[in-house]
Amino acid sequence: MFLEARGLNTYYGKSHILQDVSIDVDRGEVVALIGRNGSGRSTTLKTIAGVTPPRRGSVTLDGRDITGLKPYTIARHGVAYVPEERRIFPNLTVLDNLKLATLAGRKGKWDYERVFAFFPRLEERKTNEGKALSGGEQQMLTIARALIQNPEIILLDEPLEGLAPVVAQAIQKAIMEMKTEGMTMLLVEQNARVALAVSDRAHVLSDGQIVASGPSAKLRDDQELIQRYLSV
Ligand SMILES: Nc1ncnc2c1ncn2[C@@H]1O[C@H](COP(=O)(O)OP(=O)(O)O)[C@@H](O)[C@H]1O
Ligand SMILES: [Mg+2]
Repeated sequence: MFLEARGLNTYYGKSHILQDVSIDVDRGEVVALIGRNGSGRSTTLKTIAGVTPPRRGSVTLDGRDITGLKPYTIARHGVAYVPEERRIFPNLTVLDNLKLATLAGRKGKWDYERVFAFFPRLEERKTNEGKALSGGEQQMLTIARALIQNPEIILLDEPLEGLAPVVAQAIQKAIMEMKTEGMTMLLVEQNARVALAVSDRAHVLSDGQIVASGPSAKLRDDQELIQRYLSV
């Protein structure tokens, strides 16, 4: 597998959050990480991205051990992390937000032209400051920043959170188009139905442990599982 997380154990101080979490993502795959709030989904992405390094366990990317490296080093290895809180630069324009991302990333098929063709709305707003964007536009910008880094994999944390339904649908469509373009993604999404619709495989987290894994199409039909771990 392209990304292999093995036996991750992550702590916040004395709180043992992730307990032996193992996740695989193959090239070109979209893998969803689902579970209730507080189950450890964000911590899993942070652990892979190097923000909260694991106390035990390992992460390899194409066979290279990236465990414990600094977030920017992991980013240079081709891992783009889009956190839950959309950290765009509010006082920089859309264009400058993207420019900063290109400096952190590598060259590849995703350039300004392609990113703007993907999100025409961002091109219309390219000279606007980040703070002037709507929530949906900010989310487009965080995804565009990830794309323009030409990563090998994108870790997306709740990209539809807090967006109006029609905007959330637009972002969902963008994620599906990224998949069509061959982008590898590990997706955390609160809405299990959406997550299982856009992903190839899924892992279910509960209290920091993986309690189920499998093809999304199969998990979708498992009413007992959905009732037990996913419904609120
Ligand atoms: N910075 C932190 N310090 C202490 N505990 C935290 C911190 N961030 C998250 N937690 C705790 O870790 C657990 C998992 O959180 P998180 O990974 O954010 O869950 P999810 O993304 O699935 O909602 C929760 O119990 C949460 O309260
Ligand atoms: Mg979270």
